[in-house]
Amino acid sequence: MSGHTHDHIDWADRLALLRAADALDAVAMTAVARRLVAGLPPRPTIVDLGCGAGGMSAHFARELGSLSGGVIVLVDATPALLEEAERAANSAADLHVASDGRGSVEIRAVLGDLADTGLAHAVPSADLVWASHVVHHLADQQAAVGAVAAVAKPGGLVALAEGGLDFRCLPWDLGIGRPGLENRMLAAQAEWFIGMREGIDGAVPMPYGWSTALDRAGLTEVDSFGALVHHPSPGPESLADYVVNRLGRLREFAGGHLTADDLATVDTLLDRTGPHFVGARQDLYLLGAKTIHCGRRP
Ligand SMILES: C[S@@+](CC[C@H](N)C(=O)[O-])C[C@H]1O[C@@H](n2cnc3c(N)ncnc32)[C@H](O)[C@@H]1O
Repeated sequence: MSGHTHDHIDWADRLALLRAADALDAVAMTAVARRLVAGLPPRPTIVDLGCGAGGMSAHFARELGSLSGGVIVLVDATPALLEEAERAANSAADLHVASDGRGSVEIRAVLGDLADTGLAHAVPSADLVWASHVVHHLADQQAAVGAVAAVAKPGGLVALAEGGLDFRCLPWDLGIGRPGLENRMLAAQAEWFIGMREGIDGAVPMPYGWSTALDRAGLTEVDSFGALVHHPSPGPESLADYVVNRLGRLREFAGGHLTADDLATVDTLLDRTGPHFVGARQDLYLLGAKTIHCGRRP
């Protein structure tokens, strides 16, 4: 089963940003991993679909390693990301193996496309299927939720991270340009997102929310919970680099939806040699939220 994505995004090129986001999410997502793993049987199988740089699988590996161990299967359509995820999950798993092998976590990597109808046969049935921010990159999101659900064993848990609140990291008044730049950049990103969805061949609208999608996929006990990601200013050392990278990315793919004045402000903020370089600010922060929608396969 080979992989490719349908969204015209060069995911390998986003490796550094995904890795940095994983590091900044770590506290919040460790708590999410702990909560999801807590209800699983001993030595469970977890499948991480669209695993990206593998941050969440590394948290699962640490949780399983501190319990009775288990199997984690990583699936992604981008070889470079899958490789990085495998490395991250293996190094987290290795930390916890006891000398008697208790807590051993086996990591497997599968290059695969979530739109492939054979997906459920290419990976083992799971006690927990995790799919974070990948389903919205598929043409038929409802069908993709069904495909994710089909990977779960009967009685298995399905957890989908979708929606939530976008990260904010900039003060409202930056001292240059019109205040409120970040609000307008997020609005530009929302416009880009519409175009991204429209650009997927055969895109099917899904005019309802994720809980409804889980219901329609036949899951029971459908419920959602949130995880806050918050690094108050000045935040960890890596934050400034992350903000520079994020701003650059937003400019690259959503800049077409900004006014010329806002674009000029963004360019000034990204100028490493200028007095307004955003990476030199001491008032950056990170605030956002993830929503995790869960259901159980009957
Ligand atoms: C936004 S990233 C999310 C990564 C990670 N799950 C996270 O939450 O940080 C989307 C990921 O989905 C993968 N992806 C996109 N379309 C896919 C498809 N059709 N099949 C499998 N993986 C896909 C990309 O390669 C990328 O790793």
